[in-house]
Amino acid sequence: DTVHVLNGPNLNLLGTREPEIYGRSTIADVEAACRSACERHGLDLVFRQTNHEGELVTFLQEARGSRGVVLNAAAYTHTSVAIADAIKAAGLIVVEVHLSNVFAREAFRHHSFISPVARGVICGLGIDGYRLAIDALATAGGKIS
Ligand code: DQA
Repeated sequence: DTVHVLNGPNLNLLGTREPEIYGRSTIADVEAACRSACERHGLDLVFRQTNHEGELVTFLQEARGSRGVVLNAAAYTHTSVAIADAIKAAGLIVVEVHLSNVFAREAFRHHSFISPVARGVICGLGIDGYRLAIDALATAGGKIS
């Protein structure tokens, strides 16, 4: 079984990007945390980042048939009908993750096109959110029991 962890725009700059909001961990640190969480559960990991909306759509299509997707679509969360459509089209179980607490920030970050098609949402817990999302997909397949 494979978990896909997909990251959107500007997340390649983690570590140096507004560290007071996003912390000092780099994208390599996020990948390492995801890899050890997946190893703990005996799951394979596909970890990807892109700055391009259409590429994120392609990554989601390629995740079809997987155990689930941990998705931090970054700013596209708040703008992208195409990404929400891709999740539905591929029939994916998605846990939406944000490093920052988007609800404690600007109003334009309070709306998500992803949340209505996600199994669950984790925000504000930094890189721990990724691990928690993988734990959820691994233990209950993301299902509420
Ligand atoms: C983010 C929150 C988004 O609002 C923002 O555009 C990002 C990162 C987060 O992880 O906190 O780029 O998804």
